[in-house]
Amino acid sequence: MTTFWSTWICVLTIGSLIGLTWLLIGTRKGETKGSVDQTMGHSFDGIEEYDNPLPQWWFLLFAGTLVFSVGYLVLYPGLGNWKGILPGYENGWTGAHEWEKEMAKADAKFGPIFAKFAAMPVEEVAKDPQALKMGGRLFASNCSVCHGSDAKGAFGFPNLADSNWRWGGAADTIKTTIMGGRMAAMPAWGEVLGEAGVKNVAAYVRHDLAGLPLPADSGADLQAGQQAFNTTCVACHGANGQGTEAMGAPNLTQPAGFIYGTSLAQLQQTIRHGRQGHMPAQSELLGNDKVQLLAAYVYSLSHTAGAERLQAEHKSE
Ligand code: HEC
Ligand code: HEC
Repeated sequence: MTTFWSTWICVLTIGSLIGLTWLLIGTRKGETKGSVDQTMGHSFDGIEEYDNPLPQWWFLLFAGTLVFSVGYLVLYPGLGNWKGILPGYENGWTGAHEWEKEMAKADAKFGPIFAKFAAMPVEEVAKDPQALKMGGRLFASNCSVCHGSDAKGAFGFPNLADSNWRWGGAADTIKTTIMGGRMAAMPAWGEVLGEAGVKNVAAYVRHDLAGLPLPADSGADLQAGQQAFNTTCVACHGANGQGTEAMGAPNLTQPAGFIYGTSLAQLQQTIRHGRQGHMPAQSELLGNDKVQLLAAYVYSLSHTAGAERLQAEHKSE
């Protein structure tokens, strides 16, 4: 702001404050003490104007706002180029600024703890009760919307507390998944295989790979299904349907790990239209140190210590 406009704002603001103070004191002086309900002498269609003093509370409120405004203008920026005498409020009092201060305070407090865990292997962090507690809190606020508060997943969202992994369950792989996110790509096969082909291969996946019973009237040709699987699906799901972690292609022999359902209709739907599960990357949002705690927490859920703790928590609820 140029000096001219700064001065202009100061003169206007301070001028109005002085003016208002003078007005307040001035009207107070002219009051006739103790006399109430005297009229001004005017009458407008029978409506008369009283000449009562300002109620005390109103006067004090007005005086209070004047005192407040002077205090505010001294402490915080407001008067032209005046920055206020409180340090750190150069941009005024804003919620964002307060939030930044809170975050800086939290970083100063937790920074050394985060740094300690970030320097340890994830498996080791997963044994530390304090780290798991922090990881659990981070999970509740960042992950449970999709994976559930018990991490057991839902339709389309994998269970993170069991031993079925689409992208791999090693501690470092879990961390890679959370940091970079994952984009699964199961192509649509409806046009390639045709309706009968989809039905056959779905039945083959359900019966021969996942080991689940077929309804007697399914009418599917399991042999044709197997043939289709061998030509179309093995590239990603592997010769025995055991999956390929590098592609996030799930193991089709473990129905407990299916996230899109195991009924024939659901399998047909998956094969006909494909699936594109997306795990959002957290490296930008949360950063390495928090993801380290999350990875340790997730890892702990399918390993004895963590699994026992989770059970105990659920019992005590
Ligand atoms: C290009 C690699 C690729 C090919 C080829 C492929 N898939 Fe998949 N498939 C995937 C991926 C990746 C996923 C995981 C999708 C997701 O998580 O959103 C998947 C998921 C599935 C699922 C769902 C499992 C669940 O979690 O519910 C089934 C069933 C399936 N595939 C069957 C097949 C069949 C049958 C074929 C052959 C007709 C096939 N896939 C071919 C990559 C492939
Ligand atoms: C917007 C929903 C969403 C949020 C939020 C989310 N995830 Fe995921 N996550 C997914 C989906 C969907 C998949 C499965 C991707 C696929 O189909 O392969 C997944 C997969 C994963 C996997 C891999 C599982 C496996 O079997 O390999 C891990 C680990 C994981 N998420 C951890 C987390 C953590 C930790 C958080 C919190 C920081 C989180 N996710 C937040 C949707 C989400």
